[in-house]
Amino acid sequence: MKGRFITFEGSEGCGKSTQSRLLYQFLKRKGYNVVYLREPGGVRISEKIRKILLDPDNHIAPLCETLLYMAARAQVVHDVIKPALFKGRIVICDRFLDSTLAYQGFGLGVDINFIRRLGSFATERIKPDLTIFLDLPIKKGLRHRVLFKDRIEKRSYQYHLRVRKGYFKLGRLEPKRIKIVRVDADMRQTQAKIRELVEKHVL
Ligand code: TMP
Repeated sequence: MKGRFITFEGSEGCGKSTQSRLLYQFLKRKGYNVVYLREPGGVRISEKIRKILLDPDNHIAPLCETLLYMAARAQVVHDVIKPALFKGRIVICDRFLDSTLAYQGFGLGVDINFIRRLGSFATERIKPDLTIFLDLPIKKGLRHRVLFKDRIEKRSYQYHLRVRKGYFKLGRLEPKRIKIVRVDADMRQTQAKIRELVEKHVL
């Protein structure tokens, strides 16, 4: 595949969406053909699945939750990500398979190898060329979410700690692909670090 695939990961409130959008605008200004998506979501069906997943009134078993995230992913990979990469575009995705490994695997205890096997079907074996893991201490991140918390944000501090530790483990397993960027108080500085990594590893 000719295109390039960049994903963003991180725990709650780390500024992932802002930073990934800033990168999208930067690459577009430079003249690249870029597609921007978020997960779960990006296409109609996956956005509907997102609503189910984040609704605090839903009680969803860990396996069902894992399968729903994978189902949302399979649709967006099929409809958008794969075709865009074939056409040589740059795809930026706010979250991807590493989120399921961190949140459902390390966070909820769903078998990691099972998630990897399921993931290789759902993603049609498409892997990011670069994954930016935006790291922010859990307490700082959750502080941003005081008025409304979705089903996942409502989980315990200990749960979110396991997710963060899970990301570090994933980073240690694949240091070439997963780059840890500490979130800076000044968002322009964080963005500068991200652009440097993208210019070095992707462009
Ligand atoms: P967002 O807040 O970054 O848009 O992501 C939605 C929530 O879904 C967030 O709490 C992380 C969670 N999530 C998982 O638990 N597993 C996954 O596979 C994905 C993609 C997201």
